[in-house]
Amino acid sequence: MALLEDLQWRHALKGYDTKKKVKVEELGKIIEAIRLAPTSSGLQPFKVLLVSDKDMKEKVASACYSTNEAYVRESSYTLILAGWDRYTEERIDEVFKRTAEDRGFSVDRYTDYANKLKEVYVGMQSAQENFAHIARQVYIALGFGLAQAAELRIGSTPIEGYDANKLDELLNLQDLGLRSLCLITLGHSDSEKDWLAPMPKIRRSMNDFLVEL
Ligand SMILES: Cc1cc2nc3c(=O)[nH]c(=O)nc-3n(C[C@H](O)[C@H](O)[C@H](O)COP(=O)(O)O)c2cc1C
Repeated sequence: MALLEDLQWRHALKGYDTKKKVKVEELGKIIEAIRLAPTSSGLQPFKVLLVSDKDMKEKVASACYSTNEAYVRESSYTLILAGWDRYTEERIDEVFKRTAEDRGFSVDRYTDYANKLKEVYVGMQSAQENFAHIARQVYIALGFGLAQAAELRIGSTPIEGYDANKLDELLNLQDLGLRSLCLITLGHSDSEKDWLAPMPKIRRSMNDFLVEL
């Protein structure tokens, strides 16, 4: 029940209170929820880039479309969720080497499984298809981060409204083998600016939404 209350409470913030900051411990919990999100075959093909510094916020804001700029500037933190630019054999091997170490198994235990994944993921027809699969994992984690923020009663805005090529270039994400997919700004609502706060949540009715087969 509590989760549903959290989800009812949250909305995509449209204005941040610059004086009310998110605490570092709260930020840590949100990032932890993102880290704990499930991913296909446990590959976790993405990283979280944390933006708190004023100059870095300016840089990120400069790649955002219109109103989103202010969210980055005025929120306490911006998280950039950035996916691997592609699956590679080396990246898949690293995951299973670490898994074997952490579980105290020989890495051979995972050889067949890892080879199958390499065949499927690395062998994908196009780079676009490869990255689309990575992106799907990131969006699951986005949901976890938004839900954890809500549980802490911290406001957030998921943001796709930015120029990803521009941001990736500004931050040299190519050098890290990453491509940004979406941002999450975190902070507290400013009742003057956050016009969405008093409005009812708009969702399809359950009748319209659920298809019973
Ligand atoms: C992937 C994703 C990208 C979004 N991008 C933006 C954005 O760029 N700017 C913005 O103000 N809201 C953005 N939103 C917020 C949605 O418009 C909002 O979640 C939706 O209208 C439902 O409203 P609610 O989140 O307030 O319940 C985004 C939401 C998601 C899930």
